[in-house]
Amino acid sequence: MNTAEQLVPVLAAGGPGLARGLRLAEARLAEVADAHGEVLADYAGGTLKAGGKRLRPLLVFLCAGRTDPDERVVAAAAAVELLHMATLVHDDVLDRASLRRGYPTVFATAGRDAAIATGDLLFSRAFAELAATGSAPAVQALSAASTALARGELMQRDDAWSPAVTAARYRERCALKTGSLFAASSRLGAELGGRGSAHADALATFGDRIGVAFQILDDVLDVSGPVEETGKHRGTDLLDGTVTLPLIVARERDSELRELDLRTAATTPREAEALCDRIAASGALEQSRGEALEIVASAKRDLAEIDLESWQREALDLVADGVVARYA
Ligand code: IPE
Ligand code: IPE
Ligand code: MG
Ligand code: MG
Repeated sequence: MNTAEQLVPVLAAGGPGLARGLRLAEARLAEVADAHGEVLADYAGGTLKAGGKRLRPLLVFLCAGRTDPDERVVAAAAAVELLHMATLVHDDVLDRASLRRGYPTVFATAGRDAAIATGDLLFSRAFAELAATGSAPAVQALSAASTALARGELMQRDDAWSPAVTAARYRERCALKTGSLFAASSRLGAELGGRGSAHADALATFGDRIGVAFQILDDVLDVSGPVEETGKHRGTDLLDGTVTLPLIVARERDSELRELDLRTAATTPREAEALCDRIAASGALEQSRGEALEIVASAKRDLAEIDLESWQREALDLVADGVVARYA
């Protein structure tokens, strides 16, 4: 199922209030991209128009629980997407990635320096957006996620090509790199929705879990593709030395893979694709996907205990299922 199809039942559960919130956040994102000079308009506007699932803004709205979101919730939704976009633009520099959302990355079209500056601008606009809500806890939540994300990316660089990366260390990296922003998006929504800090903590834990599952699936899709569905090249992780769960599991299952020197095993896109096929043949993708499914199942069990409106629970359940049943 593609993302647009997956979104239909979520939008139906969220009703006109959710659709309106997402439209307002989108308009705000376009305004921000346009308001800071031609260069940002070009690079950030391009990334924006290329699509993206807007999953993090969706979490903000669903956790805020209002049927008609106020201005502050819309600002938070725009802020989490701006932060996400900033990290993607920087991530593509770190990963030397050429394709994103089906289009050439800022790194590929404008080079490293322009991509770093574009990411910096997006980071700063994310915080400006949130500061305008006047909520200090909201700014703190986004700042914590941004710090965790940077730590996750640094950990990934530290671990590059290393055959010693364990599944536990990999999971810790997923929590830092991806769980943190899913958690912050849920927390921001819940806090601005005014339901208190215990409620916000519970939804943040839910967000963290589905974020980790989401990253595991992203790493499966990096191996399985296809590029027409994911909008990213297969084997990008292998080429930049990122050791992910499919590779860790495949090396446990296949002794020849275990003996490979990761740094020289795949140095061209063609070799990376061949190594992806080998990883897939080991059964590692099913095992990794199975782990993501278990995490989602436990997140949904805990969600059942949170005091939510029925439309919220229904929509959040669908989002949780969607993170492990997707291509892009
Ligand atoms: C990509 O995130 C980065 C990861 C955390 C894997 P998304 O897959 O949510 O990216 P877009 O926004 O939909 O392009
Ligand atoms: C997620 O990691 C990136 C961030 C959380 C910034 P990846 O490197 O796997 O993301 P993609 O695959 O490039 O989207
Ligand atoms: Mg990447
Ligand atoms: Mg990836």
